[in-house]
Amino acid sequence: MCGIVGYIGQGQAAEFLLDGLRRLEYRGYDSSGIATVEDGELDVAKAAGRVEELAALLKMRHHNGSVGIGHTRWATHGPATDINAHPHLGGDQILALVHNGVIENFRAIKDRLIDKGYEFQSATDTEVVAQLLAYELEKVSDETLDSEDPLAPVIQAVQKSLAKLRGTYGLAVIFRDWPHVIVAARLGSPLVIGVGEGENFIASDSSPLAGRTKKIVYLADNEIALVTTDTIRVIHRDSGDVAHDVQTLDIDATEVDLNGFPHYMLKEIYEQPETVRNAMRGRLDKDSATAVFGGLNLTPNQLQSVKRMVLTACGTSWHAALVGEYMIETLARIPVEVEYASELRYRNPPLDDQTLLFALTQSGETIDTLAALREMKRKGHPTMSICNVVGSTIAREADGGIYLHAGQEIGVASTKAFTAQCVVMSLLALYFGRLHHLSYESGLRIIEELERLPDQVERALETNSHARRIAEKYANCNNFLYLGRQYNFPTALEGALKLKEISYIHAEGYPAAEMKHGPIALVDENTPSVFIVPQGAVYDKVLANIEEIKARRGPVIAIVDDDDSRVAELADDVIHIPPVTDFLQPIVASVPLQLLAYHIAIARGCDVDKPRNLAKSVTVE
Ligand code: F6R
Repeated sequence: MCGIVGYIGQGQAAEFLLDGLRRLEYRGYDSSGIATVEDGELDVAKAAGRVEELAALLKMRHHNGSVGIGHTRWATHGPATDINAHPHLGGDQILALVHNGVIENFRAIKDRLIDKGYEFQSATDTEVVAQLLAYELEKVSDETLDSEDPLAPVIQAVQKSLAKLRGTYGLAVIFRDWPHVIVAARLGSPLVIGVGEGENFIASDSSPLAGRTKKIVYLADNEIALVTTDTIRVIHRDSGDVAHDVQTLDIDATEVDLNGFPHYMLKEIYEQPETVRNAMRGRLDKDSATAVFGGLNLTPNQLQSVKRMVLTACGTSWHAALVGEYMIETLARIPVEVEYASELRYRNPPLDDQTLLFALTQSGETIDTLAALREMKRKGHPTMSICNVVGSTIAREADGGIYLHAGQEIGVASTKAFTAQCVVMSLLALYFGRLHHLSYESGLRIIEELERLPDQVERALETNSHARRIAEKYANCNNFLYLGRQYNFPTALEGALKLKEISYIHAEGYPAAEMKHGPIALVDENTPSVFIVPQGAVYDKVLANIEEIKARRGPVIAIVDDDDSRVAELADDVIHIPPVTDFLQPIVASVPLQLLAYHIAIARGCDVDKPRNLAKSVTVE
């Protein structure tokens, strides 16, 4: 949520900053800006709207400095205007600052600074940090000014300012009078430093670094980094100077290319045969008919004695957790609770010491999921992450975890990460099932079904042109219901979320039988119901639910197995998918639902990769 970039070196900062902001735009796209320092002056350019607005502005101006910071914003405090865009200036234009996160006590600080004569231009909490830092810089001690370390005043002012903030931040700051350093600081909002040759980079996630450097330093909470052209110094709030690990970045520049697709979302939908395969690669052990994981970091005894699981997540990842609940309870017979992370973090559910927590998160940075994980850790529960972004905060803070290996997901609407999460859930169900009651034979059958899955996902992609035709037919409808039962109840929730987030159509997902308890009142000839009704234990029941909708003249679009002919007699439109065993249906059935949402959004002229009001990776509460 919001993106930060920074550059210090011999090159032109503005060039990296703009390129980096384009790559970070999926994190927020209501305004953007950069600041560079050159000839003892700070030079700021900012514009409301997409990064291309900023690019147009920069074409008309020269930003030749080789030190700079940039930001793409997802508004929290104050609307998306030029003035509210970052960077914000502090004091008499002595520093420029960009910020991700939320400063909770900004009003109180702002009032105190106004009393001291500081003036504010914007409605943002960020400008308060910039002015606070300017204020602290103006009153640094003489001792510090006389120090042999020329950066001592900056360090003191930054430390004093940060100590006064309540909330979360990822910050990058440049200074008029210290033009050879960028200061970065982090508390609850991710920041990384890319280590180059004679140049260094700062970014809120690794995507701007692809193709620039493979060496990366992850800043931890409460750390401040002083980054110059060829040095990185990290200071911890409590322990002073700390050593920093330089790690190798696994992102490659081609991941951020569209590869001929018109949108990242479509590209990522089409990557799913491969990402499903990657999620299980090396994790299926036929000899023991189970799954294997490298990073759970629990002893066999601990794993054997897990009596209960809590799966926590937000949004689409929460839907994957629900799929997981059905899988794990059915195959492993372990009780599972699925909790919204935003609720779990403030709840105090009675959990015993044999409860294992899984945090599902594509980005590994979602603030509520992180907070829920920390809360459970504090109470002594082992915690696991199921995460896509390697080295992300949640992946690092959990006791152990499983990576999705889905590659970078740029489309704001999650697709390939969802199906990869479902695959990992099925592997966990197999693994825990085999630890308990599941027979060798059943384990082997599950493995064989998983091995067929990538091809079945590939075949589900063949529904694309049919999904487009159906999309065009219904694109003008303003309400949709998504209905499924058992494993396909979460599939329905996810289908509805995909549609609403990228097409702005109101859509509700429900267990198919539940619609009689309220939502059926919405049904009329302009409200399509999308049924997920592959063969399985509840097939006939769902058929009866379709009848109920048809009796009220509601149009029905049905996702059915290839060989199904019964549903076609009832439904207005059917999409055929390859038949798969029930617990894998959410993965295969989600593909046409993603395509349907995509084509409806396109037909309505929506920007599918950057839907309004949304941003990838929600790092504010
Ligand atoms: C919807 C979507 C969001 C995320 C949610 C959690 O398409 O992407 O609902 O699933 O914000 O994000 P992660 O998985 O990064 O924790």
